[in-house]
Amino acid sequence: MCGIFGYIGPRDPVPVIMGGLKSLEYRGYDSAGIAIVHDQKLQVRRSSGKLKNLEELLASEPLSGEFGLGHTRWATHGRPTEENAHPHRDCHGRIVVAHNGIIENYLALKRKLSEEGHKFTTETDTEVIAHLIEKHFDGNLENAVVKTLADLKGLYAFTCICVDDPQKIVAVREGNPLIVGAVDGEGFVASDIPAMLPYTRSILFLDDHEVAVVARNGIRLLDTAGNSRQPHFQHIAWDPIMAEKGGYKHFMLKEIYEQPVAIENTILGRFSLDANTVHLEDVAFTDDIWRSFKNIRILACGTSWHAALAGKYMIESLARLPVEVDYASEYRYRNPVVLPETLFIFITQSGETLDTIAAQRQVRDQGKTLTITNVVGSMTTRVADAVLYTRAGPEIGVASTKAFTTQLACLYLIALHLAELHKTLTEPQIRKALTDLTELPNKIERILDRAKHVEDISKSLFRQHDFLFLARGIHFPIALEGALKLKELSYIHAEGYPAGEMKHGPNALIDENLPVVFLAAYDRESDASHQRYEKVLNNIKEVKSRDGIILALGNEGDSDLSESADHFIEVSPTNEFLLPILEVIPLQLLAYYCAVRRGCDIDQPRNLAKSVTVE
Ligand code: AGP
Repeated sequence: MCGIFGYIGPRDPVPVIMGGLKSLEYRGYDSAGIAIVHDQKLQVRRSSGKLKNLEELLASEPLSGEFGLGHTRWATHGRPTEENAHPHRDCHGRIVVAHNGIIENYLALKRKLSEEGHKFTTETDTEVIAHLIEKHFDGNLENAVVKTLADLKGLYAFTCICVDDPQKIVAVREGNPLIVGAVDGEGFVASDIPAMLPYTRSILFLDDHEVAVVARNGIRLLDTAGNSRQPHFQHIAWDPIMAEKGGYKHFMLKEIYEQPVAIENTILGRFSLDANTVHLEDVAFTDDIWRSFKNIRILACGTSWHAALAGKYMIESLARLPVEVDYASEYRYRNPVVLPETLFIFITQSGETLDTIAAQRQVRDQGKTLTITNVVGSMTTRVADAVLYTRAGPEIGVASTKAFTTQLACLYLIALHLAELHKTLTEPQIRKALTDLTELPNKIERILDRAKHVEDISKSLFRQHDFLFLARGIHFPIALEGALKLKELSYIHAEGYPAGEMKHGPNALIDENLPVVFLAAYDRESDASHQRYEKVLNNIKEVKSRDGIILALGNEGDSDLSESADHFIEVSPTNEFLLPILEVIPLQLLAYYCAVRRGCDIDQPRNLAKSVTVE
């Protein structure tokens, strides 16, 4: 999941392109490169490692010119070295290509081109694109690109320049995201919105099988057969400030603290307490369509999959509809039995996760599809029958936080909407559920006000090698999410587990060196929730009797729990289905503070990237 940026216009292209790459670095950060055209010559600088290494190289070997492109890499083919860093060139260094994705048939193409005399210098799949364009070049770059696309197999996006047909940047999307923008004699190409925001909020999201020719006088759009297409620009509500750290040390910490507002924005205008009803007008389903669904299947990856699992508990309990939850990467290769009148819900923050999009395409003829996403114009929105946006704003930190809690809020609204239509909840129950939702942002504020306490707890736990996160019911997906956050941020091995499963094996792991995090908050107005709580208290005693280190999350003032735990974190009371949104925030903070103490790279954890656009 690399980041691509291109610029053509009157400004010095080097700082513009480096600025763009900086905003895209969360997409991949193991090597980077830039190519600038000056007097019809290509100059290239590349370096392994973080973008700052390229900045240092440019400081000692500066570049200047008229236009260019750049790339920040997440290696898939070829080690993360300077040689394999993009952009890649043809035999004569007159064509450069920056690419995101995978060329599946690159080995066969490489063999054939080598037999035809082309000289390859890297281990990458990308280099074949530069040589193919060279092979097909007849003086017009976009024509050569269109011919090249016929040879390529895979899912990708790339941008290229040729000094023999200068003053244009050609950009192609075939499965992986790429956007273009143009303002007053300037043209931009980028992999993602934050990089474009400093220049324009009028953005053209390339569709699959589209080629854009970006020049000073505007953008021409072609299909992959070379026929002209009408560009449709979209206005993005985000502003550049939203994509900056805003005084926080890390994007992740800023995004954790943005959750009260993110939840407020996400639920705004989607229900009315006066009318005691949920209205999801921005979802293109009539109430009859909503009522027609007899089964629900939710598909997602990573943190979004944890939201899906919590959504299952919400919808089954509140709307009494059967819900299946699947990892999109598994679902694609499994021969599932799909029941009639199934609603497929997809959850994806970026809207570009390849496994999720592919599963979405796979089920298109098997039922209606609804996607819950955070990015306007992303591919998932173009493949779905309906879209429900989380309104979290740009999420830059690789570890998902505010997108997760706003996904849970969306699932809660869907569950209540279905409950209303299927009359599985009474009017007073709906009113209580909606009132609880309105109180959520303040309750999150209260938890954030107690962040220092979580930081203090992290001081005694950050050196540990293993963690267990245990919970029951709807809290189990939050145990999984807490474990994932700790893993991806602090590189500590952690597992989330249903607390009732401990005695069937994991109990063997418990000793005085194992912190066990218990999610034991409960809904004081629910007997079922209190019964579950009682069981968790027993599990805590079992772990304590084996000297495990207990970190318990529970209701404010729960002295029974605080006395039986080594560390206790309070969450404000609310109903069973909203407790997960409150419980996950201290777990986000715990992972954050442990990672900070371990000196980990918070916003760009090793070996990860923000949106996974390869299989
Ligand atoms: C979460 O912190 C990770 N970044 C990752 O698991 C992520 O949730 C997953 O890749 C799915 O991304 P999506 O929501 O953009 O589809």
